[in-house]
Amino acid sequence: MRKETQCIHEGYHPKNGEPRVAPITMSTAFRYDTTEQVGDLFDLKDDGYFYTRLGNPTIGFAEAKLAALEGGVGAMMTSSGQAASMLSVLNLCSSGDNIVSSTAIYGGTFNLFDVTLRRLGVDTKFVDFRDLNAVEKAIDDNTKALFCETLANPALIVTDIEKIAAIAHKKGVPLIIDSTFATPYLCRPFEFGADIVIHSSTKYLDGHDTSVGGFIVDGGKFDYSNGRFKGFTEPDASYHGLVYSRDCGSSAFITKARVQLMRDMGSQASPFNAWLTNLGMETLCVRMDRHCENALKVAEYLKSRKEVKSISYPMLKGDPERELAVKYLGGKGSGVISFELDSRENCIKFMNSLKLVSLLVHVADLRSCALHPASSTHRQLSDEALTAAGISPSLIRLSVGLENADDIIEDVENALRAVKKA
Ligand SMILES: Cc1ncc(COP(=O)(O)O)c(C=O)c1O
Repeated sequence: MRKETQCIHEGYHPKNGEPRVAPITMSTAFRYDTTEQVGDLFDLKDDGYFYTRLGNPTIGFAEAKLAALEGGVGAMMTSSGQAASMLSVLNLCSSGDNIVSSTAIYGGTFNLFDVTLRRLGVDTKFVDFRDLNAVEKAIDDNTKALFCETLANPALIVTDIEKIAAIAHKKGVPLIIDSTFATPYLCRPFEFGADIVIHSSTKYLDGHDTSVGGFIVDGGKFDYSNGRFKGFTEPDASYHGLVYSRDCGSSAFITKARVQLMRDMGSQASPFNAWLTNLGMETLCVRMDRHCENALKVAEYLKSRKEVKSISYPMLKGDPERELAVKYLGGKGSGVISFELDSRENCIKFMNSLKLVSLLVHVADLRSCALHPASSTHRQLSDEALTAAGISPSLIRLSVGLENADDIIEDVENALRAVKKA
């Protein structure tokens, strides 16, 4: 099946007489006739659900759809994108280990790595991933993963996935990539060598601003028995001696993430959120086409305006990311534009003058929305860290929705007029 068909038909396959639309199973637990049946589930000898923290049919439908869309061997839905980032790293790292991360990542992920994971003894070395030598140099014996975003939020830098994956594999570490802004419709990072894909499904996968969620998808190709990952090659005392790389085949990563980390840390999605996300994914392809089309029109308009000091949109002519966007995003730029006005004050004036475009701490919604990162999502970063992440204090992130592009442009034009008047 092609992506458009997968979006609609993967994940849930109703049998004779069953509901056409995937049902919502709002049940915490599942009933069995015998203790042996339950034992087989715990021993991973049989597939089935027993407790929603570890799995649930509705969550399972969403997981199977996204795994198919990404071309992975399995997926695990989480309560948020943040939980997906955290669990993907903790599945590989213990205290004393480190990861090498791109500096150009979502502010919340930066904070997770720079503050919270350091407190747990997991270090992060932040590097500009456009500097391939620096990435390679940063990897040491305790490095357990490289981490970056396909299309970085909000810097809109496109990662050269093939080159980064080649460095990771040369050093024997997996590449985790957050593909939230790209979605599997624009890019399937496994095809370029990534090992683990994560998503904040809160964004385009849901697409309707209804449900917070996340996913970890396992590409199934990385060899965790290469001597670097004791958690995969030594028996798990908490799971009656299971050796993930030996006993779970190509699904070692996602099995460990579920039966060990999800069991111990919770952070599972609600079946209702999984249902909404599943529904959102059914229209992902048509929505993404429109987001991309509208965003290009708005970006071209902004580029023509004198008040706009600089603009980033990967598919704009002359944008430094264009070549990589053609290669990795299929020539589509997704729906987010970053642009700079000439001062922090003018950004605030602009933001406060928007009417159709909502001021939201959010992106990738079907309604257009805008954010001034320096005063909101990235306010915890110093000016130095802001610059390193490619974010200036006068940067605005505009998430272009599915409205008529002319209406969005008119609203932006009115807000620019208000800035000029001020
Ligand atoms: C690229 C990216 N990754 C992860 C996250 C975190 O996701 P969530 O808000 O679902 O926890 C976000 C949120 O904006 C994001 O933009």
